[in-house]
Amino acid sequence: MAQLWGGRFTRETDQLVYRFNASIDFDKKFYRQDMEGSMAHARMLASIGILSEEELTAILEGIKGILEDVEAGKLEITEEYEDIHSFVEAVLTDRIGEPGKKLHTGRSRNDQVALDMKLYTRDELLSIQEELLALIKTLHGLMGDHLETAMPGFTHLQKAQPVTLAHHLGAYMEMFKRDFERLDDIYDRMNYCPLGSGALAGTTYPLDRDMTADLLGFYGPTLNSMDSVSDRDYVIELLSALSIIMMHLSRFCEEIILWNSNEYHFIEIDDAYSTGSSIMPQKKNPDIAELVRGKTGRVYGALMSMMTTMKGIPLAYNKDMQEDKELTFDAYDTVKGCIALFHGMLKTIRFNADAMRQSAARGFTNATDAADYLVNHGVPFRDAHGIVGRLVLFCIDKGISLDQMTLEEYKAISPVFEEDIYEAISIDTCIKRRNTLGAPGPDAMKKVLEINKEWILDQEE
Ligand code: ARG
Repeated sequence: MAQLWGGRFTRETDQLVYRFNASIDFDKKFYRQDMEGSMAHARMLASIGILSEEELTAILEGIKGILEDVEAGKLEITEEYEDIHSFVEAVLTDRIGEPGKKLHTGRSRNDQVALDMKLYTRDELLSIQEELLALIKTLHGLMGDHLETAMPGFTHLQKAQPVTLAHHLGAYMEMFKRDFERLDDIYDRMNYCPLGSGALAGTTYPLDRDMTADLLGFYGPTLNSMDSVSDRDYVIELLSALSIIMMHLSRFCEEIILWNSNEYHFIEIDDAYSTGSSIMPQKKNPDIAELVRGKTGRVYGALMSMMTTMKGIPLAYNKDMQEDKELTFDAYDTVKGCIALFHGMLKTIRFNADAMRQSAARGFTNATDAADYLVNHGVPFRDAHGIVGRLVLFCIDKGISLDQMTLEEYKAISPVFEEDIYEAISIDTCIKRRNTLGAPGPDAMKKVLEINKEWILDQEE
């Protein structure tokens, strides 16, 4: 047991208590951030004369050595230490002697862990953004390929009006763009440095908090030391943004699963992203989509857990907050993995344009357009709605679609119909005419593609 606080104790910690209390098992995940924070702190201590240049050099070289050895697998972070902070300080002091013992001047594990968690969360946020942007670019490419690929649009999972695959994919594009921007917002709000807050009430040393904030890439230092050591809002914000990302992925997965079914046959998921059945030889299952959908619950769970952990905590630091890590880290990893796998699956899906078009052509997706035809010929919309309703009933009865009715049959229901009704209700016409910005008409979609191309370029800058 290597602890930083033996002085006022006369008896050894109970073994079970030690294990229950220790966090090394999971906080070792941010060993790199912990060491970066310590190096910045040491630099600052030297700048205000608390460490000599030689001591600073020894500390920096010492920490770099530890970092290299950990990354090369030469130094193991073991359970012998209570947490990652104790590990670094103990190994450092072991290696360089006296200067190692000075590193913790003007610092508490409370502001240290607050810093580590923030640095780690910030890094994770950025890498999730990277995964998202890659997915968004793929979606943008697919949209460009499928401006004319007709498919039914649904409401209540009933065929409603014809759209295009580009339009349908574009809906997810907008969701993922919002997700990306939400992460930007969180970044901007969280990017203030808690280091220098001490245990809760700052310190008596003249620490240069602007300097450490700057060295660690923060906009500046935080403004209240009690809040700084007990603030995990940014974790909650990120977990809620991640929950929304998972909700979007899950909805998309649900559609992919439906579209991949024998009944729809709109798409075929690549063999590389499907799995078989141990008993039914014919099966090719969309397990990846199902797993992404399923893992959504796990990320929501992390959010609920974090909200509940924080809800009764009096100022300032309390050990409850150690529970901020395990499920949160799991959620970060889960989301990153899910976006990457989903992206791989999407890139390799084969779209069955014929099946989509046929499906759009059946199921009266052009009924609204037939009503609009009547309106354009002077029939009030409410009457037109009733007339087309009768057409649909007629078709259902005969087992045909609107385009298969003869002109005589049309005229028997309303004399307003003429030969041009067939052109007016063809799927392509229905789509082409929907050209308000945001609608599936290819001209409108091209504008959206342009706007989104700019958006992507902006994020890449
Ligand atoms: N392992 C602790 C955590 O994760 C580090 C801070 C410990 N501070 C303390 N006063 N015991 O929150």
